[in-house]
Amino acid sequence: MYPTPPEIERILVTSEQIEQRVAELAQQINQDYATVERLYIIGILKGAFIFLADLTRHLTIPHAVDFMALSSYGKTTVSGAVRILMDVREPLEGQHVLIVEDIVDSGHTLNYLTHLIHNRRPASLRTCVLVRKQRNGINVTVDYLGFTIPDVWVVGYGLDYADRFRTLPYVAELKREVYSQK
Ligand code: IMP
Ligand code: MG
Repeated sequence: MYPTPPEIERILVTSEQIEQRVAELAQQINQDYATVERLYIIGILKGAFIFLADLTRHLTIPHAVDFMALSSYGKTTVSGAVRILMDVREPLEGQHVLIVEDIVDSGHTLNYLTHLIHNRRPASLRTCVLVRKQRNGINVTVDYLGFTIPDVWVVGYGLDYADRFRTLPYVAELKREVYSQK
């Protein structure tokens, strides 16, 4: 395994903790959707791709995997408007939909997304998020949450800073000087 990059301040969630929690979340999802015909899982690109891949490999219920790509931030850490860059392949009306997202920060992105999908009249709609920042944001519901983390910029396990650090095996705090001096 490669060494910890110098831009990392500290590891907040280890790969072992992630592995265990992802398995627990999948167990819960297996139980909750035990009787549905098919769960339509929507991973939000790019950040959720690793979480989604690990989560879905623990699923024993029938499910389809699809993706949406949204853009709410530019290169760095400043919040902006949400845009759909890529949409799902199927109409969602009547489907049991689970959104899989990497992180909830202000909650704007997930709030926008749940409203958008809700308007397509799915049979049910829930959200699964790896990490949520402890801060005052929008009160958006997360049905399956991996971890609560401090309000700092984090990278790894899909999460990036300007498209870097996504494939670190843990969730780590980025050094403040990396994201505050720009
Ligand atoms: P929100 O709309 O403020 O909740 O932000 C959600 C989106 O911002 C996520 O889908 C991420 O793409 C991005 N984001 C927010 N905080 C972080 C972070 O600490 N690291 C990496 N991406 C983040
Ligand atoms: Mg994201």
